[in-house]
Amino acid sequence: MNVPALACVLMVISTVRAFQYAELARYIDSHQEEYVEALRDWVAIESDSSNVFRRPDLHRMMDVAAQKLRLMGGTVELVDIGEQELPNGQKLALPKVVTALFGSDPSKHTVCIYGHVDVQPAKLEDGWATEPYNLTDVNGNLYGRGASDNKAPVLAWIHAVGAYQALSLELPVNVKFVIEGMEETGSNGLDAMIVAQRDTFFSDVDYIIISDCGWLSRRPALTYGTRGNCYFFAEVEGPKQDLHSGVYGGTVIEPMTDLVGILDTLISPSGTILIPGIREAVAPLSDEEWRMYQDIQFDLDHYKTKIGVSELMYTNKVDLLAHMWRYPTVTIHGIEGAFSDPGTKTVIPAKVTAKFSIRQVPDMDPATVKKQVTDYLHSVFAKRKSPNKLKVTMVIGAKPWLADTQHPLYEAGKAAVKRVFDMDADLIREGGTIPIARTFQDVTGKSIIMMPIGGFDDGLHSQNEKMSRSNIFLNFMELF
Ligand SMILES: *[C@@H]1O[C@H](CO)[C@@H](O)[C@H](O)[C@H]1NC(C)=O
Ligand SMILES: [Zn+2]
Repeated sequence: MNVPALACVLMVISTVRAFQYAELARYIDSHQEEYVEALRDWVAIESDSSNVFRRPDLHRMMDVAAQKLRLMGGTVELVDIGEQELPNGQKLALPKVVTALFGSDPSKHTVCIYGHVDVQPAKLEDGWATEPYNLTDVNGNLYGRGASDNKAPVLAWIHAVGAYQALSLELPVNVKFVIEGMEETGSNGLDAMIVAQRDTFFSDVDYIIISDCGWLSRRPALTYGTRGNCYFFAEVEGPKQDLHSGVYGGTVIEPMTDLVGILDTLISPSGTILIPGIREAVAPLSDEEWRMYQDIQFDLDHYKTKIGVSELMYTNKVDLLAHMWRYPTVTIHGIEGAFSDPGTKTVIPAKVTAKFSIRQVPDMDPATVKKQVTDYLHSVFAKRKSPNKLKVTMVIGAKPWLADTQHPLYEAGKAAVKRVFDMDADLIREGGTIPIARTFQDVTGKSIIMMPIGGFDDGLHSQNEKMSRSNIFLNFMELF
């Protein structure tokens, strides 16, 4: 599906002859619609891992992915990774992890491709121009939830293997897949699975490739770092039931007022995190990093237009990129239990739960952050002398990941991008979280490279997420 990306990787590890590229290019070009149909089928499955009512769809998604790999002759397993416990104590089966193997020639290197097929929630009424689970082609952009994050990239790798098979070309490497279904909620259960299979499935893996990220601009990119994420629930509970504000307003200390009050102490209007200890833990920006950021192609005005704001937090490129990638942020996402429907309701909500998260960077540690945030919120809450009850829980604690850009794998990656695209790769980081990168690194000790396939304007996690045909089917014939 995406031969340029595959070509990069394969060139990292071996040399593939030019005539094979031409043959692959022709094959892929003539099968484009088939690939789009495959993506359409996958996008149609509402595999939202954050919504417990969608769990059957998520299980089906894993089965569909496994079946596709099985039909291609892969050695496929659906690995049971147990259950998750919901906040209400209920247990729910986690989606199985799909593992697959193509080739086991001991004289070849083994590449392991990681991807996920779960998605973020999406509803038409969130502001989508098209049905989020009905892949829609508008001027070569394929709109649909999960199209870019991460279904098309996973399919790209699978179809790339398929193209080699269809042409009876020998794969220059053994290829393994690890496909999970809980990435969007913190990869529950995957860490334990990787630990458990370290000496089996992962024992002969030489390199791990992740394509769960996007380019920064129109220049091809290699990604060498991601932020982690600590996600918190802060619940304030007061009266035993919702109350009428006309009847009871003025007599009770309202949970919502308490909650909004403590939320306002997390971050200053200019973006400074006010939780003690967080900023102190951040690794300082080095001169070398500063220089690298200077070289990256990034247009602030375009960025502003893309997201539709008149002003950004920072006015120069280096500061903006640094705060996008290598400094922590606090984001308040929503309040459960609050009145949020259209219209007016004169309610005093009895229990409200704020959802907020803090993006993690080196050298922050989620366990420490959990304590810092919990202690801080309780101390701020105590000052209010409220009779209501505050409960703070951290529901996701994902560490950041950072690779050495001088590592031979990255050097090879740079050379490969140069050869394929005839331009230098931007070395970028991701503001988002791919928790598994850090786990792969810690547990397997293998080298990891992130090779984005998605475009810079794909709208991940947002309304109108898309994957461009041009990003999937780059006109790579011109590249050789
Ligand atoms: C998807 O959208 C197309 C037109 O945009 C429509 O014809 C088709 O019926 C839709 N499919 C589903 C399953 O809603
Ligand atoms: Zn993703």
